[in-house]
Amino acid sequence: LMFINSPGNPNGKVLGVEHLRKVVEWARARDVIVASDECYLGLGWTEQPVSILDPRVCDGDFTNLLAIHSLSKTSNMASYRTGWFAGDADLIAELVSVRRHMGLMMPGPIQHATIAALNDDSHEAEQKQRYRDRREILRDALVAAGFRIDNSEGGLYLWATRREDCWQTVDWLAERGILVAPGSFYGPRGAQHVRVGLTATLNDIEVAAARIRG
Ligand SMILES: Cc1ncc(COP(=O)(O)O)c(C=O)c1O
Repeated sequence: LMFINSPGNPNGKVLGVEHLRKVVEWARARDVIVASDECYLGLGWTEQPVSILDPRVCDGDFTNLLAIHSLSKTSNMASYRTGWFAGDADLIAELVSVRRHMGLMMPGPIQHATIAALNDDSHEAEQKQRYRDRREILRDALVAAGFRIDNSEGGLYLWATRREDCWQTVDWLAERGILVAPGSFYGPRGAQHVRVGLTATLNDIEVAAARIRG
């Protein structure tokens, strides 16, 4: 089983059609299942994220491919723990069976909230605009303060560096009352980065931006 995630958490990297095609080809040659966590798919900023099920990626053949979606981000329904799978029908039948045997039952009200969310696109567009506004304010403030933003083509985070150990950056921001995640939490390649979330309110983001610039 290969697990991929684009746009990625923590760095917001978007894998393009060519990259995803190579993943699918590699997996097909080895009979590997590709599970693609696409919970940020609707949140592309400077790149258009692509699903593993896009015909340009898989030529319309879903065998051994699973796209995994969540309403946590695009519909702002974090904590409802609701989403959906798409892709290989046989794999999904197995997952449904496992879910049943494990007794992982979704409460009725949450199922209804999910249906309401999936039947409406306008709230997703509104939520995306909120994230976009927050992202631009924070990005401009971080760049003005000497940060470099890497990747972050999609998703809910800015992957930022001051080219120093991430814990020094965490401290610098903490002194200003701003909490971010040290990149080293996510592996050695994050040692000089911090992950800045876009989940605070616009008002808090504006206050944070002023402190970063100040
Ligand atoms: C890559 C990724 N997958 C899944 C999740 C969680 O999704 P859910 O809230 O549906 O459990 C998150 C976020 O918290 C995430 O970053």
